[in-house]
This record gives sequence, structure tokens and C-alpha cells, in this order.
Amino acid sequence: MNASPIAELDLLLGNALSEISAAPNSAVVEQLRIALLGRQGTVTAQLKLIGAQPPELRKEFGAAVNHVRDQLTDALLDRSVEIKEEEQQAQITAEKVDVTLPGRGRHKGSLHPVSRTLRRIEKIFTRAGFDVAHGPEIEDDFHNFEALNIPKNHPARAMHDTFYVSDETVLRTHTSPVQIRYLETHTPPVAVIAPGRVYRCDSDVTHTPMFHQVEGLAVDSDISFADLKGVLVFFLEEFFERELPVRFRPSFFPFTEPSAEVDMGCVFCDGGGCRICGHSGWIEVLGCGMVHTEVFRQVGIDNELFTGYAFGLGIERLAMLRYGVDDLRLFFENEVSFLRQFA
Ligand code: FA5
Ligand code: MG
Repeated sequence: MNASPIAELDLLLGNALSEISAAPNSAVVEQLRIALLGRQGTVTAQLKLIGAQPPELRKEFGAAVNHVRDQLTDALLDRSVEIKEEEQQAQITAEKVDVTLPGRGRHKGSLHPVSRTLRRIEKIFTRAGFDVAHGPEIEDDFHNFEALNIPKNHPARAMHDTFYVSDETVLRTHTSPVQIRYLETHTPPVAVIAPGRVYRCDSDVTHTPMFHQVEGLAVDSDISFADLKGVLVFFLEEFFERELPVRFRPSFFPFTEPSAEVDMGCVFCDGGGCRICGHSGWIEVLGCGMVHTEVFRQVGIDNELFTGYAFGLGIERLAMLRYGVDDLRLFFENEVSFLRQFA
């Protein structure tokens, strides 16, 4: 037996209302509106059946169908308003900024340890009255070798592991060519330092193919080896701010006579001998000496009137000893965790 048309309408209304309240989004609400109240909709179909009802039922049925249509129209509208609010709420939650969360912080950049060391060196020497000069990294054979009393085929060229750019041009192997350039353009008395990059085909824990030197040069009427020793000892004490053993060791450079190299006590083994100092207990930090008469001749300075001293410091070696870095190559790997320690 069929249920009465009114009961069927009740059923339709009940089902439609629960579908509407379960609709998850506006698209589904719109689908339901079309399915119920659209031209082909189920409720629309019922409206069309009003006239087909027996006259005694017609009024009651008509009122019932209209009631269903009104209820559903309201329910659809309510649900879409609700959904809009839900969507807005979800968006607000998603975009919410929790101002009470701890900040992420920012890492401040810092100077590279080599730059720091260089600045420190420049400060000490400028305080002692030295000027600062610069020269080219791509240097000609004359300034890098010839004028420094290292003629072609001189065995001392073998000490330099030179990168050649062409027969007559090199990546400078030391900052000493700046001595020549400075004396070509200035007349004594002079006191100058010349920091910069230099290049040698060389690599191990205390050697890198590119490194930094600071050249020092002083020329005046009565400069002696004692002045050189005085200035270097003053510098090393200022630089390290602590007592480290220093030794001057006789050495050879074609552009100085006499010549010496300066070693510092190895900070890694306290002089006992280790891998870093080649088991000697000492690390070489600089070369120095009294300017050779041949160098003065090359730049037209009178040997009878002037004497001078010169030195060449290895910046990475000094940084290594000051900061306790046991492999020079670390300075150029740009490992952020390494560099941050110098912030
Ligand atoms: C020279 O380069 C001379 N021009 C120094 C000099 C200047 C002597 C003025 C006299 C007068 P030497 O090759 O020893 O000398 O290098 C000087 C310093 O540079 C060394 O003591 C060392 O501290 C540093 N050094 C040399 N080679 C390297 C390298 N491959 N990596 C890092 N540091 C180096
Ligand atoms: Mg040396």
C-alpha cells in the first residue's frame, strides 16, 4: 500500500533537510537546490501535481507542498550562510599569526677571520707610523722577480711554485713586488705596509694555493737590523696579547741581506712537536731582512745614503696561531659553522 501523498511529502522534507544540513560546501548546497527546487527538481514536480489531486485533498496538499518548498528554501539559504561563515572562520584560523611564539632570530654576518686578522695587523702598524699601499695581484716578471734580485734561471725561483699567466706575467707569489712599486714612486724616508693576496701552487695543513701576506718596508738614513727586530717583536706582542716563544732563524732571500725567518712556538703542541708544526715545535710566520743593495740599485736609491729593512708576514699563519685553527685550508672552505665562531 502506498503512503499518503502528504506523508510522502513529510518524508521528502525530512530527507532533504538532513541532506542540506550535512552539505559540506556551497557547491553541494547549490546541487541540492537544483535537485529540489530547480525546474526538474523533486519539489517542483510535486508543485506540478497539485492540480492532479482529488479536489478534497487539493487544498491540503497544495499547502503542504508550498510549506515544503518554503522550508527548503529557508534551509538552503541558512546552510549557505553557515558555510560562508565556516569558510571564513577556517581562513582566519589558517592565516592566524601567533604573536606569542618565540622569534626565529637572525644570524648576524661577521668578518672572515682572515679579514679580521688583516684589520688587526693594519691597525698595529698604522699606529706605529706605517702607511698602507697596494699592488696588483697579476704581476709582471720584473716586479715579482727581476727587480728583487731574482734573475731568470735563478734557483730561488724554484722556492716560489709560481702560477704563470704568460711568460712575462705571473700571479704574484708574494707581496714583495709592492716594495719595488712603492720605491719607484716614493723617495725615502718611507715606512709602509702592503697587504694582499698571493698565489703559489702549494697545499697542505699550513699551505694554501691562495693566501695573504703583509709586506713591510722601511727605508731611511740609518736603519739597522735592531730596528727590524724591535718592530717585529713589538708587533708580535701587540698581535698575540700573550707571551708566545719567538725565534729569529738565519735564512736566505735574494732581496735581503742578511735575512731571517721568524718562527712562533706551536700553540697546538706547546712546542712539543706535532703534525701541524711538522714535529719541530715551531711554526714559521714571516720572512725578513735588510734590503739588498741590488734592490736599491734597481729603483735608483743611493746605497751610501740609505738602508732599510723589509718583512713579509703570512696572515693565515698568524690567524691560525691566534685562533687555534689547526688546518689552514679551513679558512677557505666557507663552512658556515666554522665562520660563525668568529662572530
Ligand atoms: C716570502 O714570501 C718573502 N717575500 C718574505 C720576505 C719579505 C722576506 C720581505 C724578506 C723581506 P716566504 O716564502 O717564506 O717568504 O713566505 C712568507 C710567509 O708567508 C711565510 O713565513 C708563511 O707565513 C707564509 N706562507 C708561505 N707560503 C704559504 C702558503 N702556501 N700558505 C700560507 N702561508 C704561506
Ligand atoms: Mg719561508
